[in-house]
Amino acid sequence: MSYLAAAEAPSNIALVKYMGKMSTTENRPANASLSWTTEHLRSKVAILDSIDGEDSWGALVEDGWTAPELTVKGQQRFLKHFRLLKDQWGVEGKYKVLSANNFPSDCGIASSASSFAALTLASWYLAKAKIPDLDATQIELSALSRQGSGSSCRSLFSPWAIWKDSYAEPVSGLLEGLEHQVVIVSDEKKEVSSSEAHKRVTTSSFFEGRVKRAENRLENLLRALSLESSNWKQAFEICLEEFEDMHQLFETSEPPFRYRTTASQSVVDLAKQMWVDEGIGPIVTMDAGANVHLLWKPEQLEQARRLSQACPVGSLIVSSPRISKES
Ligand code: PMV
Repeated sequence: MSYLAAAEAPSNIALVKYMGKMSTTENRPANASLSWTTEHLRSKVAILDSIDGEDSWGALVEDGWTAPELTVKGQQRFLKHFRLLKDQWGVEGKYKVLSANNFPSDCGIASSASSFAALTLASWYLAKAKIPDLDATQIELSALSRQGSGSSCRSLFSPWAIWKDSYAEPVSGLLEGLEHQVVIVSDEKKEVSSSEAHKRVTTSSFFEGRVKRAENRLENLLRALSLESSNWKQAFEICLEEFEDMHQLFETSEPPFRYRTTASQSVVDLAKQMWVDEGIGPIVTMDAGANVHLLWKPEQLEQARRLSQACPVGSLIVSSPRISKES
């Protein structure tokens, strides 16, 4: 099918988390975050002329891509961001916006970062096709993407992105070639969305001091991941502390809510045990959900495969190509 414009974008996993906002309308974060871009988990957005005179959303049907089952609310949020972008660049007309992911949509891998980043890029290509004189930097596109979905602003950079306030930026000089795995222990729909989590965490008594804690970890983590003075074990320890901090905020907010399950804890424990037994293991982190993300150095592929085999029965593991190829 020939599209007016199309773009792909990857998802990302934060090691220092964006949790809590300064402004809910514009997605300004309470603290800076750092993420690894998960190139193997991608979304694609394509734009066509509308046939009914309205902006609308539809499933993108192409080999290798799975369209999400977007709720009406999800579609409205997507189209609201599309309209914001059209207004920004003065794009006229009505369009059909198609989207899909290269991972199953109902398995608990968050697709908002990759899909909003892909929407921002596809809309930008549409705008350029209509108005060739327009100009925008990646930083400007990141700032716009942020307004649709906060964490999507980091997906415009790879492999590392740091997001302090209104846009994300690339970070150089850090370890490269990491391999990512996500252990999906639950595909149930989350009862508390991340937008709600951002609001609720501010009611936890542990929220006081959160910004300082996150800032300190960011500073230490940048050092632990730097090519010059990398300390993988310390990076693991900082990331563990950081996601546990975020989950403690969830579990002590008013009213409290919980994403961690026994199965997630058992995957975290497997990774911790690997560190104890072998002196080396993965970086472990969790988002606002029950699934567990692991990052490995390129020379740890064998360990990654072993850990996959030990994961709880019924969990689905989505690995970057180099890990899955030889498993
Ligand atoms: O971008 P949002 O509003 O879906 O928030 C993402 C929040 C976390 O995934 C929990 C952390 C992060 O920095 O990505």
